[in-house]
Amino acid sequence: MSSSDTMEKLVSLAKRRGYVFQSSEIYGGTGSVWDYGPLGIELKRNVKELWWSRMVHQRDDVEGLDAAILMHPRVWEASGHVEGFTDPLVECKACKKRFRQDTLADQACGRKPSVTPGEDAACELGEPRLFNLMFRTFMGPVEDAAHTIYLRPETAQGSYVNFLNVQTAARQKVPFGIAQIGKAFRNEITPGNFIFRTREFEQAEMQFFVEPGTDDEWFDRWLEERMAWHLSLGIREDRLRIHEHGPGELAHYAKKAVDIEYLFPFGWKELEGVHNRTDFDLRRHEEFSGKRLQYIDSGGGKRFLPYVVETAVGVDRTVLVLLTDAYREEEVEGEERVVLGLHPRVAPIKAAIFPLVKKDGLPEIAARLARELREAAIPSFYDESGSIGRRYRRQDEAGTPWCVTVDGQTAEDGTVTIRDRDSLEQVRIDASHLEGWIRERLR
Ligand code: GAP
Repeated sequence: MSSSDTMEKLVSLAKRRGYVFQSSEIYGGTGSVWDYGPLGIELKRNVKELWWSRMVHQRDDVEGLDAAILMHPRVWEASGHVEGFTDPLVECKACKKRFRQDTLADQACGRKPSVTPGEDAACELGEPRLFNLMFRTFMGPVEDAAHTIYLRPETAQGSYVNFLNVQTAARQKVPFGIAQIGKAFRNEITPGNFIFRTREFEQAEMQFFVEPGTDDEWFDRWLEERMAWHLSLGIREDRLRIHEHGPGELAHYAKKAVDIEYLFPFGWKELEGVHNRTDFDLRRHEEFSGKRLQYIDSGGGKRFLPYVVETAVGVDRTVLVLLTDAYREEEVEGEERVVLGLHPRVAPIKAAIFPLVKKDGLPEIAARLARELREAAIPSFYDESGSIGRRYRRQDEAGTPWCVTVDGQTAEDGTVTIRDRDSLEQVRIDASHLEGWIRERLR
């Protein structure tokens, strides 16, 4: 299957099953902005909750923060984004389309999609111009330069400007970190590949403040920890690798940067970045705000500007990785089936409960079981429509790991059958053990 076929199938499944819809679809869609449907939002919430649990709740050296999207415009001057958060853009006079000059080889010509921009004799690429990726708007009723503010292009700056607030309020000592999950916006020139690169997206970022000189060691520890997290979501190990940035690739703030990459249908691409940002951001905020941001160690009285090791993952990109990694087509009992083999921890619905037939009190028992699971905070779904085979197929596509069938024997002895989505094995257990059985497998 070609990479575009795979992506087409994924986009179509995502829409059919209520994972992801195009934003403002009835108006023809908004360029590279997507909405999450009933199952998509559950998957996304699971990703965010698992990240938060591991990065904040399970540690005593990372604190949470939810900084505002709109920040003082000087923040973005200090951070270097006003000056340097740009992509080189070229316009083709022949097709009037604009392209990122540094990735022409990955793009399609506006007139002849089989060639890249500039490849055809009729292409007329102009001189490159730097295009700032930040979305601009105005604060208050006056629309002039003095009232210009930006939609944040990363959550990280909210953590830097709050570094001392969090440190003193939480009585933390360096080394410690600040974690945030939130929306970020970039006016990308070449967005695409479904939810891989979008103009509005969510980041889960953690800034870890350390004493200079200990930064290399912390960098290695965080890189290992982040790789372990991706594996804990059930992502295939052979589709993950690390790529260290060479000197020409490093962002303006970084001393060292390593991408955790995933093998998407369209090639190896960044999923998460781990960066050694040195004291660049804190130093610049000291300069631009005139406020000291030094850490004073209450024990030894040491004073220093901490270095920062950052871990930055896209939530939407993680969702795309999970969907891509889980998607498979296979033949079962002579029939084609599409399966989303999502890890039970991230699957939106954990169990679907079916009455085998719509009579003899079976629907009532099944509906009660589904309600009891939901009340026990296990997302469950009741379905009585269509043949049992069709109900299985719908849940296979939705990524539900277990289907529970209530049949004649349930009415007699209180047992139900659980069918495993991947192995197709069926086990019979007492319905009163169902919650415990599922919980054990989610742990
Ligand atoms: N604070 C550092 C930072 O923002 P980044 O590598 O530019 O670093 C971090 O972004 C992560 O955010 C990326 O690895 C990616 O997962 C996600 N991301 C960045 N731009 C994105 C976009 N346009 N659409 C979706 N996700 C994006």
